[in-house]
Amino acid sequence: MYILGIDTSCDDTSVAILKDGYEVISNLVSSQNDIHQRFGGVVPELASRRHLENITPMIKLSLEEAKIDKEDISVIGVTYGPGLVGSLLVGLMVAKGLAYSLKKPLIGINHMEGHIFGAILEHRDLYPPFIALVVSGGHTDLVLVRRYFSYEIIGSTRDDAAGEAFDKVARLLDIGYPGGPAIERFARLGSIDYNLPRAIPEGYDFSFSGLKTAVIRLLKGKENIDLPSVAYSFQEAVVDVLVDKSLKACTNYKINRLAISGGVAANGRLREKFLDEAKNYGIDVYFPSIKMCTDNATMICSATYYRYLAGHRSDLTINAESYCGYPDG
Ligand code: KG4
Ligand code: ZN
Repeated sequence: MYILGIDTSCDDTSVAILKDGYEVISNLVSSQNDIHQRFGGVVPELASRRHLENITPMIKLSLEEAKIDKEDISVIGVTYGPGLVGSLLVGLMVAKGLAYSLKKPLIGINHMEGHIFGAILEHRDLYPPFIALVVSGGHTDLVLVRRYFSYEIIGSTRDDAAGEAFDKVARLLDIGYPGGPAIERFARLGSIDYNLPRAIPEGYDFSFSGLKTAVIRLLKGKENIDLPSVAYSFQEAVVDVLVDKSLKACTNYKINRLAISGGVAANGRLREKFLDEAKNYGIDVYFPSIKMCTDNATMICSATYYRYLAGHRSDLTINAESYCGYPDG
């Protein structure tokens, strides 16, 4: 069984082919960093135009890499949301066209659910019930997954997402785009902890905009500031809050499996601290591999596989949704 997956939710064009549910036989990601870099963020119109140029050659390349013909595809899975609507539409329309012409089933996948299935694909011992921390450019969600396809949001950010905070602080420090990897590299040079505030709203919610303001104050208020140490202190503050809240949620809900996915989960310091601390709580932490953390279509294939086996299908009227919650069932 071959699943073709497509994700064009933001600025990366991703195509993958998964064999029999677990074997990745093609995983292509075409980054658009070169065109968005000089703007310090994603320009939606440029992103959708680049997706349009990329998508057909990438599908051909992916089939070549997998050494299969398009007629061999069994199911097509595609991200329908959340994301940039112009970008989503490119992947969705191509997927619909393929499904129609090849007479194969189409399954629309929620991008956030995709991030969770990226962790499931790589860890056969990760199954519900578990808690997922999904930390990306647009989301910081603590999700209780009691059963497959059942998502109870127990906490999320009240303002900026964690990845967004990384991107904004990188812009303040003028160290490049995307901000997460740039901060992580720069922070390795830092040695002073400026003890930036850890915002801890009630319950399991997060808040990162105050931290960004604290960075602005620090940069304006002091002379001879060590910029790598600002990056280091910022990263420590974000990581501390994510670790604390997630482990507290696992303890209070009596769940001992925690999956961490989304672009920010690629952060080395975050991975290190989670693995260290979780041991003290008897919680097993599951990180996807680094390339599975950031946007890719293999995770979409994985979600498609589980939904296909559960009998889910989408029809050709499925539309792109720029804002949408986790799917309900
Ligand atoms: O999941 P993702 O690739 O795309 C979205 O669905 O948003 O996440 C992108 C976010 C960006 O904000 C990026 O700066 C952040 O993930 N990110 C990181 C790292 N790599 C990517 N943040 C911290 N450390 C990293 N190494
Ligand atoms: Zn993502």
